[in-house]
Amino acid sequence: MDTKELWIELQLREILHDRLMDIIEKIISNFKNNKSLYIGEEITIAEHMIQSAMMAEKSKSKNNLICSSLLHDYGHFILDDPDELVKKNKDGKHEDIGYEYLKKFFKKEVVEPIKHHVLAKRYLARDKKYYNRLSEASIVSLKLQGGLLNSKDAKSFEKEEFFKDSIKLRKFDEAAKKMGIKIKDIIDYKDLLKVSLK
Ligand SMILES: [Fe+2]
Repeated sequence: MDTKELWIELQLREILHDRLMDIIEKIISNFKNNKSLYIGEEITIAEHMIQSAMMAEKSKSKNNLICSSLLHDYGHFILDDPDELVKKNKDGKHEDIGYEYLKKFFKKEVVEPIKHHVLAKRYLARDKKYYNRLSEASIVSLKLQGGLLNSKDAKSFEKEEFFKDSIKLRKFDEAAKKMGIKIKDIIDYKDLLKVSLK
């Protein structure tokens, strides 16, 4: 590599580094500015995602899955108004929107469970006991998300590479709606976000 090529290479690396740092700052600021409540629940979307990440930590999950949990509803930040979508009986497909956006920056181990966490809910809800534990808001959204998964789709989901992590993520998600508990700050996850980048 001659000097010119090396210079171009260094410039490109710097641009890439800046872009990646920008996304971390953007995520942190979105978490800090989020005031909207998680649909039908009493906590904000940011608090809900932080609680999910804390659940993943408590279960001694790997960093990638903790990061998935932290970002699993990021699509709601991108969508204009998730409450409006539910009112209009439309599903915002937040998992696809979050996935499409985040996959540009984060490892596939982080983003694949995000993409599948709604499918995991539809899979798990086939079990009566699990279904009965769902919150009221979660039952409403389940209908909009396509309802219970049929057995053919459930079988093919089981074969997915990130099936297990998607199921785990969904379980953290469901349990992360507690009010009045002490939670971490998004800043506490800055290093985790950094190591989870591609
Ligand atoms: Fe969630």
